[in-house]
Amino acid sequence: MQTHVFLNAHQVGQAAATLIAAQLLRKPDSVLGLATGSSPIPTYEALIAMHEAGVLDFSRATSFNLDEYVGLAPDHPCSYHAFMQEHLFSRVNIRPQSVHIPDGEAADLYAAARAYDDAILAAGGIDLQLLGIGHNGHIGFNEPGEHFVYGCHRVALSQSTIQANKRFFASEADVPRYAVSLGIGSIMQARQVLLIATGEDKAEAVRQALEGDVSPLWQASILRTHPDAIFLLDEAAASRLSGR
Ligand code: F6R
Repeated sequence: MQTHVFLNAHQVGQAAATLIAAQLLRKPDSVLGLATGSSPIPTYEALIAMHEAGVLDFSRATSFNLDEYVGLAPDHPCSYHAFMQEHLFSRVNIRPQSVHIPDGEAADLYAAARAYDDAILAAGGIDLQLLGIGHNGHIGFNEPGEHFVYGCHRVALSQSTIQANKRFFASEADVPRYAVSLGIGSIMQARQVLLIATGEDKAEAVRQALEGDVSPLWQASILRTHPDAIFLLDEAAASRLSGR
């Protein structure tokens, strides 16, 4: 477990992009686990800049996104399909057939979730998983609860997540109440995990993840048992850690 603290979100993004670029240079056909939300945007901007400068090639990479809202079509502007197109896929040379995002419109969400887990296994597992963290400590949409859920599954979003994500929608009522999320098992099986947290509003979740009990009440705390997890924080997100 490593923790690195940077001055600001821009530097965090540069650091995360450097680690992802190193992964792709070492293994051009890497399987990347990707996240949405505001946290990874500086990372994606930095990766796009490296690609445009001619030093980063995504043509042999495969990606699996963490999650998608239930009921949003891929072309819905608030879907995570649309987010990924806008913030990364349309701006680098990853092949469309190599990107995977859970299908929030599947008629049988249970079967689609099993198929998503199987597709990750068939691709050889995730080499590097990029994560953000919710205010309530969620990773993916694995919300606080009594258990760590192993596989991809349908999840009821917590009130705190609905509140946090309403900024992306016209109103709170428009935020879907359910999502499909990769499980904690798939995240933990990734060979390396990079968690990005920026901003004072993430400081308590970061403190609980790094210094609280390892508990499903703060799902990110499980990452402390991962053999190669790296937390990339800005000073604000690190501000409640002991010794700071
Ligand atoms: C996104 C995801 C979520 C977010 C988290 C933080 O794919 O799985 O866990 O990483 O909700 O979101 P932001 O970065 O918008 O604060």
